Amino acid sequence: MCGIFGFIGKGNIQDIVRKGLQTLEYRGYDSCGYALLSDSGLKVEKKIGKGKIEELTSSLPINGSHRLRIISHTRWATHGRVTQENAHPQLDCAREIALVHNGIIENYKAIKESLEQEGHRFISETDTEVITHLIEKYIKRYEFEEAVKKALTELRGSFAVVVMWVNAGKVIAACKHSPLAIGIAGDNFFVASDAMAFLKYTKKVIFLEDEEMAVIDRGVDILPFGKNRKREKVFQEISMEPGKIEKGDFPHFMLKEIFEQPTVVKSTARHILNSLFFANTPPRIIKEVERIILVGCGTSWHAGLLGEYMIEELSGVPVEVEYASEFRYRNPVLSERDLVIAISQSGETADTLAALREAKKKCNVFAICNVPGSSMDRISDYVLYTKAGPEIGVASTKAFTAQLTVLYLFALYLAREKERISQQVIDIHIKELQNIPAKMEMILGRSKEIENISQYFLGKNNALYLGRGFQFPIALEGALKLKEVSYIHAEGYPAAEMKHGPIALVDQEMPVVFIAVQDSSYQKIMGNVEEVKARGGFIIALVNDEDREVKKIADMVIPVPETSQYIMPLLTVIPLQLLAYYTALKRGCDVDKPRNLAKSVTVE
Ligand code: F6R
Repeated sequence: MCGIFGFIGKGNIQDIVRKGLQTLEYRGYDSCGYALLSDSGLKVEKKIGKGKIEELTSSLPINGSHRLRIISHTRWATHGRVTQENAHPQLDCAREIALVHNGIIENYKAIKESLEQEGHRFISETDTEVITHLIEKYIKRYEFEEAVKKALTELRGSFAVVVMWVNAGKVIAACKHSPLAIGIAGDNFFVASDAMAFLKYTKKVIFLEDEEMAVIDRGVDILPFGKNRKREKVFQEISMEPGKIEKGDFPHFMLKEIFEQPTVVKSTARHILNSLFFANTPPRIIKEVERIILVGCGTSWHAGLLGEYMIEELSGVPVEVEYASEFRYRNPVLSERDLVIAISQSGETADTLAALREAKKKCNVFAICNVPGSSMDRISDYVLYTKAGPEIGVASTKAFTAQLTVLYLFALYLAREKERISQQVIDIHIKELQNIPAKMEMILGRSKEIENISQYFLGKNNALYLGRGFQFPIALEGALKLKEVSYIHAEGYPAAEMKHGPIALVDQEMPVVFIAVQDSSYQKIMGNVEEVKARGGFIIALVNDEDREVKKIADMVIPVPETSQYIMPLLTVIPLQLLAYYTALKRGCDVDKPRNLAKSVTVE
């Protein structure tokens, strides 16, 4: 979604802003722009379309001898089409106030109507533009800070904004339910919706809290604009490393990230073993917890479904899995002995974050998260980090297998704390997990075969993915991967449910992908494979190397090595990721940035 990057100071701003915006590119955008304030006044530039950051920033100075203020933005359209007028920065009537915004202003229509009656002229279709006009209204009577404060208190919704006014030497950044980080490097200041954008220059960061604003000039002042009390300004050193966002020898980030999975599982497992199993300070709630609720969206929600299977079977603790977007609005019944765990790669997904905030009022909240310093990291009582490194491809791949690794180890840990399994049994489980990276490598070594199979999907409009037990969430994930990157409509179903409707769709034109590995559901799913075959369906089956039965019936097979059923999903998901990738590639799709999608969904 939208990205914000601002800089106040001296330096090669062409390079600083270009790199900053490029780091935020992963969030997805369809236009970009900047406003530069210097002695010669306010200069605004905008570009429409993806991949325009280099072109946009080429008009910025490279000679860094003057102190400059610049705010820049990548926009992912929500209110209004992808046009020059709707791109940010947005300006007021007098073109003296420039503002960039991430989030959604829910009451913008009412504000716009009343401002129009007062004579303000709007040129965009955005919700953002009301903020600039509101500030313009108040700036006639108040100081800049006060005018911004007054405007912000009228807004409903979520927002991160950065604003400049030609008559003030300062830049104001403010947020509510949307992240903003301020970085300091000597006399230079940065502001960004993701600290990653300036990590190359400084690790000294302040994360703005809800309803706070930072007034940045030669220093930074943190002020509340809502009910919060003024807080001490404390820059913290963050331990994040500026992630390498390079494709290396791979043509796309998605492929690179699929191939990184063996390493990611290894480092995530090592980290969780150290932090959870070997640390002496496990949160007390783990011993006492009576119910766990896993919340997430999209792929992270699929990880949650598998978490439910793992945790219930191993520890006996009841688990519920909820879409964060539903959970947050249904006033869930929670008690002190419940534990809500948010699962999120980015740590910024608006619905998951809101669900976490809602839950925190009533019980303990944990997060399984890939981004240290993210909003979820900061508000959770305890965080289990996935060590996937920056995930740039919009379709989540390595973050998913990292989440499964965490959930599996967490389930084992809980089982130990609940005295359900012995250390000896845990050791056997961990050993099996340690064998997974090598088995993943074996599957990746067969990518050419999977690429050949993807040929079959080319002219198809629909696909069905079927699995049972631990492989049902993988069927959902396989279908999601295919549809989001190749735009082929795909459905994931529990295989036995097929008879209750989807079987009507089966014909030669619709590939049916069965995940038919040898786990406790194997005999049952065999029956479902036969049913599809009997109706003339075209079957692509994921089977174990040793399989004899399904191989005889399926039209195409993808073999995967054997392992325990708990962690088999770590293996079976890989061919499905590759299948989606190669299909999308052959159909000429933009695999790393599929249409209409954003990497980090920071609005509802
Ligand atoms: C699918 C995908 C999305 C995300 C979802 C949640 O490939 O990437 O479905 O999983 O938007 O994002 P996070 O995990 O960042 O909360």
